[in-house]
Amino acid sequence: MLTSCTTDHPTSSDAPVANAHVAGELHAGLLAREAWISPKFLYDSLGSKLFEAICELPEYYPTRTEASIFERHGAEIARAAGANATLVDLGAGNCAKAASLFPLLQPAQYVAVDISTEFLCEALGRLRQRFPQIRMEGLGMDFSQRFELPPQVRQERRLFFYPGSSIGNFNPEEARAFLDRLRAQCGPDGGLLIGIDLAKDKAVLDAAYDDALGVTAAFNLNILRHVNTLLDADFDIRQWRHHGFYRPERGRVEMHLEARTAQEVRWRGGSRRFAAGERIHTENSYKYQQADAIALLERSGFEATRVWTDPQRWFAVIHAQAA
Ligand code: AVI
Repeated sequence: MLTSCTTDHPTSSDAPVANAHVAGELHAGLLAREAWISPKFLYDSLGSKLFEAICELPEYYPTRTEASIFERHGAEIARAAGANATLVDLGAGNCAKAASLFPLLQPAQYVAVDISTEFLCEALGRLRQRFPQIRMEGLGMDFSQRFELPPQVRQERRLFFYPGSSIGNFNPEEARAFLDRLRAQCGPDGGLLIGIDLAKDKAVLDAAYDDALGVTAAFNLNILRHVNTLLDADFDIRQWRHHGFYRPERGRVEMHLEARTAQEVRWRGGSRRFAAGERIHTENSYKYQQADAIALLERSGFEATRVWTDPQRWFAVIHAQAA
């Protein structure tokens, strides 16, 4: 479902009750042998705010490392990407990253897309006042499965902006399928500006996904609150514990929630007994080798024109154009 920020009553994954498709997806994951909940359900209004807080944490290096790359190489990045683009910000959140690039990129149209509709529309409202000269569209939609831009989005010079290594939350096959969909929406003069987190030391990654303050734990646990709302479930948040850790052999960080005690959880249309210590898998965050990231883009018909990294080579920003 797509909700435009110009409609009066945005409904989204923030809406109190899940539609049949969302309910079916949650139900299937909760009943799977190894229970899982899609990471997209991390982002209700509170989850989006908790993610903003994660980005401020000293342990969570991706946001500031990526920002340092944009700060240091902004002019070159803007030259590679070109002005007057239709800037399509995928997973825009509070729109802050794209907004910081407006003076350099000078987009003809800014299109902010996010699953957390209410949060997005509020952010876009503030942005419209700061940049009245830029045409803006806000689209509340889950772009992880299907992706088609509505007619109000210009066809010319579409530049997809996908920062923050959100691509890492897809497994490699899903990432490929997602990039294929972007390529199909791109047109011959389009491109992609993407941030990708690179593989690194386990201690750095473990700390980034299990911080001392417990903000990432709250972010992860909030998914159960969100499921309680969507499915009328009765998860007792206090009975679950956060885990976030790097698995170098799988090339990814995993987040799980572990039952502190044996318990039964009920929801509309189902129930499950969880043993003490049983886990629900809530997120993967893949960490790429630079060459593998470029190969992934190329397989979907994008040609990398430039790669910028930080001095430690922890993070890469890549500009790719439609090949
Ligand atoms: C949004 N995404 C790229 C974040 C990540 O690092 O995978 C989400 C996140 N999960 C835990 N901390 C941050």
